[in-house]
Amino acid sequence: MSIRTLDDLLAEGVSGRRVLVRADLNVPLDKQTGDITDDGRIRAVLPTLGALVEAGAKVVVCSHLGRPKGTPDPQFSLRPVAGRLGELLGAPVHFAEDTVGDSARSTVAGLADGQVALLENLRFNAGETSKDEAERGAFADQLAAFGDAYVDDAFGAVHRKHASVYDVPARLPHVAGRLVLREVEVLSKLTGSPERPYVVVLGGSKVSDKLAVIEALLPTVDRLLIGGGMCFTFLKAQGLEVGTSLLEKDMVETCRNLLERSDGKIMLPVDVVAADAFAPDAAHDTVRVDGIPSHRLGLDIGPETVAGFAAALSQAKTIFWNGPMGVFEMAPFAAGTRGVAEAITKADAFSVVGGGDSAAAVRALGLDESSFGHISTGGGASLEYLEGKSLPGIAALEN
Ligand code: 3PG
Ligand code: MG
Repeated sequence: MSIRTLDDLLAEGVSGRRVLVRADLNVPLDKQTGDITDDGRIRAVLPTLGALVEAGAKVVVCSHLGRPKGTPDPQFSLRPVAGRLGELLGAPVHFAEDTVGDSARSTVAGLADGQVALLENLRFNAGETSKDEAERGAFADQLAAFGDAYVDDAFGAVHRKHASVYDVPARLPHVAGRLVLREVEVLSKLTGSPERPYVVVLGGSKVSDKLAVIEALLPTVDRLLIGGGMCFTFLKAQGLEVGTSLLEKDMVETCRNLLERSDGKIMLPVDVVAADAFAPDAAHDTVRVDGIPSHRLGLDIGPETVAGFAAALSQAKTIFWNGPMGVFEMAPFAAGTRGVAEAITKADAFSVVGGGDSAAAVRALGLDESSFGHISTGGGASLEYLEGKSLPGIAALEN
């Protein structure tokens, strides 16, 4: 199926035309100060925005941030993002105080050629995420009125059947932006015929979030390394006691079943860092997985596990990593994530880091981004892509 691209749109000429760009500017904010803690997703759309600006388009950018409930909520305002985007573009970004109201209309109407506007958070409007087609459609009509053409560059949101992702492209000439194209090109290498051994590392807190991708990946990968909070449900499934560690009781049976069917491909931790409490100053020790004290919780994988995972990764020719191995935001529990990330950079492999959190971890730990093959801006989106699901945002571009 062919998708038209930004280059096709640029070739038609966009000077003086209004181009509505759906971006994923859902960046992490500091809870206390509201400052942007990682601007990776803003930087990721610069190639698309820069090309449109240079071609003289009137660029109208829209995005969600966080999960407000369909009504304005100041803690989720995109205003700080407009500031940062302007700094990175080297030109002011005109910020609209609402998404499709008076402020948005006058901001868009006032744009000169080559200028950029950012609309307020899409999810301040119930129509954006509504399951009701008519409600979504009505909101999509209002958004579509701001563009003569539509560019989807919000890879992190292509798995959402939301108005700005799914319904707007049905109303305007539509193309894929540079980021969406690059992401799809890279991820399709993993679903096609990846060079072997193909090793996948999964972490993060919930097995239930990863179940579908584990099911989909088991037949295709050579090794599946599991760390992070979700490893404890697997350890429990092996009959081990996990103290007060994160545990999804209703997933234990499923994990046992996956382990049975995994042909020995699944590698679990052999040691973990267990702490008295979920706090950076909590007393903690490295323990074997069969010796987790009943009052303690595991907050990272241990050094022997890191060594085992690193050995498996050193053999790999293709690597996909999603989800931190421990609570890397707290220094005493960052070694597992760091160790695995470093092993990935050392491997002579094509490596893809999937997910907002893992990508943020790479940058927060000060690792060199260029030593990874590709750092995806999509968490849920990259997982659903690997599951082989049809993604609403991509399907909409194909039509
Ligand atoms: C993400 O952070 O995964 C994307 O921005 C999508 O956000 P959502 O999970 O709230 O839809
Ligand atoms: Mg998400």
